[in-house]
Amino acid sequence: MLVLNTLPERGRPLDAIDASMLGPSGADAARRWIETQAERPETPLYELGALAAELGVTRLYVKDEGRRLGLGSFKALGGAYAVACLVLEEASRRLGRTLCFTELASPAVTTVASSMTVACATDGNHGRSVAQGASRVGAKAAIFVHSGVSDERVAAIARFGAGIIRVEGNYDDSVARAAEIAEERGWIVVSDTSWPGYERIPSLVMQGYTLMVREALGRLPEPPTHVFLQSGVGGFAAAVAGHMALMLGDRCPTIVVVDPARAACLVESAKAGRPVKLDQGEPTVMAMLECYEPSLVAWRILSRVADAFIAVDEIDALDAMNRLARPAGDDPAIVSGESGGAGLAGLVVAMRSVDMRRHLALGAGSRVLVINTEGATDPALYRTLVGLDPDDVRSAGSAG
Ligand SMILES: Cc1ncc(COP(=O)(O)O)c(C=O)c1O
Repeated sequence: MLVLNTLPERGRPLDAIDASMLGPSGADAARRWIETQAERPETPLYELGALAAELGVTRLYVKDEGRRLGLGSFKALGGAYAVACLVLEEASRRLGRTLCFTELASPAVTTVASSMTVACATDGNHGRSVAQGASRVGAKAAIFVHSGVSDERVAAIARFGAGIIRVEGNYDDSVARAAEIAEERGWIVVSDTSWPGYERIPSLVMQGYTLMVREALGRLPEPPTHVFLQSGVGGFAAAVAGHMALMLGDRCPTIVVVDPARAACLVESAKAGRPVKLDQGEPTVMAMLECYEPSLVAWRILSRVADAFIAVDEIDALDAMNRLARPAGDDPAIVSGESGGAGLAGLVVAMRSVDMRRHLALGAGSRVLVINTEGATDPALYRTLVGLDPDDVRSAGSAG
């Protein structure tokens, strides 16, 4: 299902606050942070010529976030960055001078960090990033996980020394619980979703994501004509789309936001013309995208810069994982988790429909960018869904 953005907000400039978070100065701040991280090589950008030909577009690029900062997803750029910013701000306040990221490891800053606890709710990847960010700066982390988060994903968070709090219900319930307990105990909520009165920290999380867009734009021979961006609460899509709109202006690609059909909160919000909260339905295999209410900041940005919203089915997500694992022709093999390939799934679905191709002006002549937002963040599940071991996929392809 495709919903074109016909909202009155479409095309309006971003609010000054969003432009400053996601524009060049915000992205520079995130760059200064990543330069202090030990393993900061760029993630690869692949061109998949054979798949492009098969689908009927001129070029198809995949930015592969599967190994970002050793965490397995692009989320490594958001939560950990926000934690670093918050610790630095608190240390600057207590020490009475403005500190920079290069001082994060100094004893004065780690002493301040050790008195701080950061908390968040997660489907898996964001919590891993917050836990990693906290362990790096010496802060404590409390991560709230709902009943649908697999044991393997929880173990990957606990590995960073974070306290784990299991919550009955879904992602939205865990967000509410994290906010409630954090309020009681004086913890700082580092959420990847925003709500009225709580915008700044999620915007920092999104600012961290701009690093990935910058890298992609730096490597592409020319800007893409179309970008398909998967969405949970919409923070990822809004960060990518917002940064592109600010950096590329008139050359900004057509932005298509891709929701799982079973948790299509952005699609439904686009239809309604305002952010809507959906009732929980059947779980989706795209577990990281299973969110029933958009982030307020993300909605504010996407309602202005997104061109269309599309929903993909379970089978489309599995098809995308398999296409990337078993590539056509000389294309590299890419390990893509259940939510990682959803952007590609959106492209495949759009190319199947004459109507969608026409509405999106998509086809021969199109240069499409998708982002594989995660690798096999749950390897056992990956083996079940794809029938291959992630290590074998990596060593079989040149995507190494
Ligand atoms: C792998 C992956 N892709 C995409 C997303 C969507 O990000 P957002 O919730 O900001 O829309 C997530 C969110 O957790 C994710 O983990």
